[in-house]
Amino acid sequence: MHRVTVVIALLGGLSLCAAAPSQNITSDVYFYGNSPPVYPSPEGTGTGAWATAYEKAKELVAQLTDEEKLNLTAGTSTTTGCSGVIAAIPRVNFTGLCVSDAGNGLRGTDHVNSWASGIHVGASWNKTLAHERAQYMGQEFHRKGVNLLLGPVVGPLGRVAEGGRNWEGFSNDPYLTGALVYETVRGVQGSGVGVSTKHYIGNEQETNRNPETVDGVDVASVSSNIDDKTIHELYLWPFQDAVRAGSVAIMCSYERINNSYACQNSKTLNGLLKTELGFQGYVITDWGAQHGGIASANAGLDMVMPDSTLWGANLTTAIANGSMEASRLDDMVTRILATWYQLNQDTDFPTPGIGMPSSVDSEHQAVIGTSPDEKGALLQSAVEGHVLVKNTNGALPLQSPSLVSVFGYDAKGPEALSFVASFGTYSPAIQNSTLYVGGGSGSNSPSYLSTPLDALQQQAYEDSTAVVWDVSSQDPDVDPTSEACLVFINSYATEGFDRPGLVDDWSDTLVTNVAGKCNNTIVVIHNAGIRLVYDWIDHANVTAVILAHLPGQDTGHALVNLLYGRANPSGRLPYTIAKQASDYGSVLHPSEPQTPYGLFPQSDYAEGVYIDYRAFDQQNITPQFEFGFGLSYTTFNYSELDVRQTNGSTSQYPPSATIQEGGNPRLWDEIVKVTATVQNSGSVDGDEVAQLYVGIPNGPVRQLRGFEKVHIPVGQTAQVSFSLVRRDLSTWSVDAQQWLLQLGTYQVYVGRSSRDLPLTGQFSL
Ligand code: BGC
Repeated sequence: MHRVTVVIALLGGLSLCAAAPSQNITSDVYFYGNSPPVYPSPEGTGTGAWATAYEKAKELVAQLTDEEKLNLTAGTSTTTGCSGVIAAIPRVNFTGLCVSDAGNGLRGTDHVNSWASGIHVGASWNKTLAHERAQYMGQEFHRKGVNLLLGPVVGPLGRVAEGGRNWEGFSNDPYLTGALVYETVRGVQGSGVGVSTKHYIGNEQETNRNPETVDGVDVASVSSNIDDKTIHELYLWPFQDAVRAGSVAIMCSYERINNSYACQNSKTLNGLLKTELGFQGYVITDWGAQHGGIASANAGLDMVMPDSTLWGANLTTAIANGSMEASRLDDMVTRILATWYQLNQDTDFPTPGIGMPSSVDSEHQAVIGTSPDEKGALLQSAVEGHVLVKNTNGALPLQSPSLVSVFGYDAKGPEALSFVASFGTYSPAIQNSTLYVGGGSGSNSPSYLSTPLDALQQQAYEDSTAVVWDVSSQDPDVDPTSEACLVFINSYATEGFDRPGLVDDWSDTLVTNVAGKCNNTIVVIHNAGIRLVYDWIDHANVTAVILAHLPGQDTGHALVNLLYGRANPSGRLPYTIAKQASDYGSVLHPSEPQTPYGLFPQSDYAEGVYIDYRAFDQQNITPQFEFGFGLSYTTFNYSELDVRQTNGSTSQYPPSATIQEGGNPRLWDEIVKVTATVQNSGSVDGDEVAQLYVGIPNGPVRQLRGFEKVHIPVGQTAQVSFSLVRRDLSTWSVDAQQWLLQLGTYQVYVGRSSRDLPLTGQFSL
């Protein structure tokens, strides 16, 4: 007799079992909810901008043998350092594909840059800069012969506060993430390199992300049990933006969703992605995420990585015995080849993998991925993701201090700088130097590393001042003539593990020790995710605090520009910092399998859309620093809110239209326009992030629905304007299977953060 957990899985409005979530019952059978089936797999139609690419792809497919088609659908062995390779077909001049990690820069090779990570881009709230970073990153991948960049990340979205990969994505808010992934997809692909937006979908924790054998017993991947409304309003939202931007590939994740593996889930692949969102590209597996053969093909999977023992000749057998249509195989290869044409990789691309040696330590040709043109965007991307959260007694910017003392392991460089990803648990080798990127496949490879300590020494050289340091002791001596004591700590995260917590005692003790001896203690935290600060944030000697995130290789240079006032902080938190960990409630920790019966681990998304600030607002919990918060060296005043309905139809149902990439195009019809005036009322030039939140009737108190970063010189004003489109103002109706406008009064808020909103208005539909 087995004791099992029964889970309600709701998707597409179907309730598939009667028990309450996580209720334990005794049963002889394993009985779980599943996603409703969606078959057959929709064929790519070549709509919109894809028409020519599809025509060319179809012509090429018509010339291929069955074996050649099969080879296009799965990775093959490689002598290159590409993460995965699709073999060339010289007979028809198809040169093959090299696909490689990741969303923050190219990994595991030389002559490339380490760019600011996803969380840093999220904290910059800058769409233009996100686009520029992506464009330059794409150019590097292009020069190195990488056809497909394995990123950007929008899953995890960041549901679990301790999630190990949240730093690879932008924010746990779907709107902010959606706006930044849109620019990222356009930027990379504008450089002729494809993206595979990942990990689709419900990849919200590392714990149990893959099946494993524990004490001889097989344990499946965790199942993310997500209801239909929540999946649309939170987790699918940024994927929709990525598809709308033209993402040529989508990577299915390791997890199960509502108990079906993500790479064979017909509801999420055939249904949501290929039918509802009209996706024209191909679905590629995460590495080793295929668990079923014909089932995955029929569910909408198109390409398996790094290789497949389940497909190959088995697909031919399946077609012969009727388990799979021949047209499904043709659709897979049409989608794959169409992307090659869509990106002009048939005419304008180096030899795939040319800059990706199998090992940088063996003989290889130097292929320079970097270019001097990138310098400005590389540095600016590093600058803008720093968030100043405390600044008292005029601590910052520093005013020509004669002596600066530097403490903490995070100020210095590592013993060796390698191009290999820092995969691993909480190894001191990784943590005990400045954190410029997180660990795992999302790590990147720097061309050099400007550490905080190096950059501060350079500054001291230029100013003819003094800098002293102790970057190993937890209780360092402090020169009493120090005008500022800078303490550097970090908070590491890596693929493969969720984080052990949101604070660490060693680092917090270091801060309080220094603060006990120095009345101008400035704390800098390089944080790969949420980092709590309750131990010392109110200490009178802690005068300034910067959440420095993961700036990439220009980290020290960027920070010193901010500390010395050559740059004005303009980052804003892309998540909430709580006063205590328990304030994150049920989504603080990842779901753990219930022992000893956890053969099919379950993670019920019972909180629905109420994660991060939506939950804090709903439960009236005061955060330490709210979503959207960040200080500047100047101040901004808000005035003149104007909210007006524009010409878009306000019928509750979206007008029907042919599905385009991204779904029903009428979801982007503007319905309301909001404008406001922002004035720089302080004494230095600065950049403000004007934020628009909307309270939709029957929804969360407020949700981000617009933001604009504007540069405003001292004393001047800027007008910011936000376009509210149908999707922004709708909620997903499970009954109607549509985005519906709500009848009632909408609240409108404009201001500096999710809790500092000086302008309020409303409108009714
Ligand atoms: C990661 C992916 C990555 C792939 C290839 C997997 O373990 O989850 O994000 O793209 O490896 O390196």
